[in-house]
Amino acid sequence: MRPVDIIRRKRDGGELTPAEIDAFVRAAATGEGWATYQLSALLMAVFLRGMTPAETAHLTRAMADSGKVLDLADIPGPKVDKHSTGGVGDKTSLILGPLAAACGVVVPMMSGRGLGHTGGTLDKLESIPGFRVHLREDEFREALRAVGLGMIGQTSDVAPADKTLYALRDVTGTVESVPLITASILSKKLAEGISGLVMDVKAGHGAFMKTPAAARELAESLVRVGTANGLRVSAVLTGMDTPLGRNVGNALEVIESVETLKGNGPPDLTELSVLLAARMVRLAGLAADDAEADRRVRAALSSGAGLEVFRRCVEQQGGDPRALDDYTRLPAAPRTMHVVAPRSGYVSEMTAGAVGVAAMVLGGGRERAEDGVDHAVGVVCRRKPGEPVRAGEAVYEVHYRSTVRLIDALPLLEESFAVADAPPPAPPLVLGEIT
Ligand code: URA
Repeated sequence: MRPVDIIRRKRDGGELTPAEIDAFVRAAATGEGWATYQLSALLMAVFLRGMTPAETAHLTRAMADSGKVLDLADIPGPKVDKHSTGGVGDKTSLILGPLAAACGVVVPMMSGRGLGHTGGTLDKLESIPGFRVHLREDEFREALRAVGLGMIGQTSDVAPADKTLYALRDVTGTVESVPLITASILSKKLAEGISGLVMDVKAGHGAFMKTPAAARELAESLVRVGTANGLRVSAVLTGMDTPLGRNVGNALEVIESVETLKGNGPPDLTELSVLLAARMVRLAGLAADDAEADRRVRAALSSGAGLEVFRRCVEQQGGDPRALDDYTRLPAAPRTMHVVAPRSGYVSEMTAGAVGVAAMVLGGGRERAEDGVDHAVGVVCRRKPGEPVRAGEAVYEVHYRSTVRLIDALPLLEESFAVADAPPPAPPLVLGEIT
């Protein structure tokens, strides 16, 4: 089986056999047998020709099996995780993980770092002093047993084929392919040893998928391929035209998450976190229907049980739990300034992508995987679309360290919003759902 024959078959629109897919994935994981240009050529052929559901399901399983797959059978309780395709101000993991765990779900959450204009859960957690996102496997298991929640980074032995292939896709223009995205996301989730997965597939300016139709196509593929690999998957399509919640930036997002667990969160963030946590409870088999799951999650929120789980999780992973009550223990930027409304009226739009890029430019995100992040900087949306504002009042509060970076970020923020005479119609939080 020569690589060139496999490439030719896909180039001509054929269907690859399981053995051909295995050969490709083995080569990606080990670096042997195929040249990098041959891996890239097959990626491009898949990008142009697509894959059948059966090919995608096999690719996903082969990529998961290219590395370590956790077996959590000895830890009691249903294991369910959530994955978001990424958005600006999307800190729901920090809220729904504790809420779902408070309802009895075991949540073995392995996340990535932020790249580009969307933030990553690990970077947010690392703004809590002492918080360790790299636990040994025995420590991770202990966290799951003791707290019901562990939030860690993907180790290098998880889906190594994906590491090679994702890096190649990034530089060969082959990222935006539904079968390749599906296999990339689900291979890493299958490696967590979970039985259920809730997907938040975002659509809009600030999302990976720009239109609801593209997001739906990805969501359907994720549900189909996850199910074919033995996972219970539920996908929620949500809008990402404006930032979620008000805070964008690592420590700022931790504060907003904790406030949400204390019951003081903004409505969009609270509602989405509750919805996704309820879907996790449902997939875990801990509620008879969506209404009961919703009631259980709201009870965990209002009783403070979710906050308590987050506090224990922080403690268990070496973080300073006092930071959840005393925010001065979190990193803070040395300076703030306001971006103000040029006229009075209602904020009529706020482009999530621009706010996300501004936060990245301030130092809160990374342009390349090897960049570091500044946990303190970011943007607080003092007004969101639909809210009234007077000329000269703040729309954004910018938390910054470097004036040079601020100068680059300001034009993005100034052009990211509009003020109109009337409020815009409220956008729906959920665009659709696939189960
Ligand atoms: N996230 C992933 O993990 N993989 C992709 O291919 C795209 C988004």
